[in-house]
Amino acid sequence: MEHTASPAKQPGNSINRRSFVVGGVLGLGAGAVGVGILAGGKNSPIRQNPLIGENAAATSSASASDDTFTYPSLLSGTTSDDVVTYALDMETGTHEVLTGVTSTTMGYNGSYLGPTMKWTNGDTVQMQVTNNLGAVTTTHWHGAHVPAYYDGGPQETIADGDTWEPEFTVNQGGASTLWYHPHALGTTAEQVTHGLAGMIIVEDDTTTSSDLPSDYGVDDIPVILQCLCTDTSGDIKYSLSGYLESDLEFPVLCNGTNVDSTTLTFTATKTRTRLRFLNASPADIITVSRTDGGDMTQIATEQGYITAAESVTEIRLIAGERAEVVLDLSSAVTLQAVITTGWVKGGSGTYEFLTITPDASDTPVTLPSSLRTIDRYDTTDFTARTITLSQVGLAMEINGVSATSVSDMYMITTTLDSEEIWTIVNDTQLEHSFHLHDVPFQIISVNGEAPTGAYLGWKDMVEVVGGATVKIAMKFTDYTSDTYMYMFHCHILMHEDEGMMAGLLVE
Ligand code: C2O
Ligand code: CU
Ligand code: CU
Repeated sequence: MEHTASPAKQPGNSINRRSFVVGGVLGLGAGAVGVGILAGGKNSPIRQNPLIGENAAATSSASASDDTFTYPSLLSGTTSDDVVTYALDMETGTHEVLTGVTSTTMGYNGSYLGPTMKWTNGDTVQMQVTNNLGAVTTTHWHGAHVPAYYDGGPQETIADGDTWEPEFTVNQGGASTLWYHPHALGTTAEQVTHGLAGMIIVEDDTTTSSDLPSDYGVDDIPVILQCLCTDTSGDIKYSLSGYLESDLEFPVLCNGTNVDSTTLTFTATKTRTRLRFLNASPADIITVSRTDGGDMTQIATEQGYITAAESVTEIRLIAGERAEVVLDLSSAVTLQAVITTGWVKGGSGTYEFLTITPDASDTPVTLPSSLRTIDRYDTTDFTARTITLSQVGLAMEINGVSATSVSDMYMITTTLDSEEIWTIVNDTQLEHSFHLHDVPFQIISVNGEAPTGAYLGWKDMVEVVGGATVKIAMKFTDYTSDTYMYMFHCHILMHEDEGMMAGLLVE
């Protein structure tokens, strides 16, 4: 049965309290969590940008300059009673988004972006998310398979000054690259484009091949790419009215550093380097390739390893999408990002953002021929639904409903373990970046064509170009709630804020 959410299904004012109680572990004071400079909580004297990780080899030279590649620091968790706790402080600050100009920004544990968390599959983790933004917010664990009331969607709001403490078991299908960002209704674009985004690396002993690089910052490197929009004074734009101004800039950032006219440099001390790409742009599509046209070896999509490593010459990432590659470096490699506008206005052009120069003498072992087994769904008996993406004026809709509040959004109700095939029909001429919370899905077809390559892997994002029809299949395992919805929506942040957001109740 499909219907819009009835008022009776909506939570009362007890969301935070309920989550808190269910979470169970209380009483860890702010002073007890976080480690050293990585934590920088509200009362910490150290409030620096989390982007403090630097390439050791590069910085050891006397000439380390602004061009040195930096990456988010790793956030250490605190383990107590078998629960690993991570402290995230959402705060405001300033950052150089546009070269030479200071922008007002937001970040987790710093002024822009956030630290990387490493979770281990099977561990119990608790997040302590403190909102110091001066505005309501949420924090969502994008790609994580968690109970709906810990998912951080629009129902799990964090009032200004409050701390939200979701606790759950890491329950991914395997090792993967996830991310976290705010998800409050109507303010997601504003908050994410100002810098609230961070990476989550999920490790899994049963799927991590010891032959794959995993030394963070050494041979396992986060690469968060963004194309933003600002005016010439650096004021970040995030809604249609802002984008209608003249004299806009579309700065491109790599891990928060502007690469409009700079190529960052990284010295690789291992011959084989793993890169985890995340397109954290509000809308634009980013295609990564080598300037020499050479191959990259793709090993993962956003929900973990693909069945076997695949040689590719480019990786196309829609807003919200991730991919992992490994590079075997015999000589320096420069990576470029081609920006394609994903919205009414956006960036364009080619940006050489990173040169990786090897300074290594090791010989890596042969990559495993098989990374993982993926059983493709036989969808014959799956429950079919149609999800239509449409537009009326400026309102963006899912199945005819433009979400303006949690209680009026389109909602699907399903049951535990139901197996479904969704036909996503894009009734607009616009690009949409479809995303489903809760469980990973498989792409069954794109405009009637079966997928190939990495599109055969587990996904939580899929590109639906104007007029396209895409079929995806999924199984709703493990978690139920009669109150808290998962979301499915367009990840073009302005579209979700303009109503292309819907709920999913797994009862
Ligand atoms: Cu990246 Cu619904 O979120
Ligand atoms: Cu998500
Ligand atoms: Cu869209």
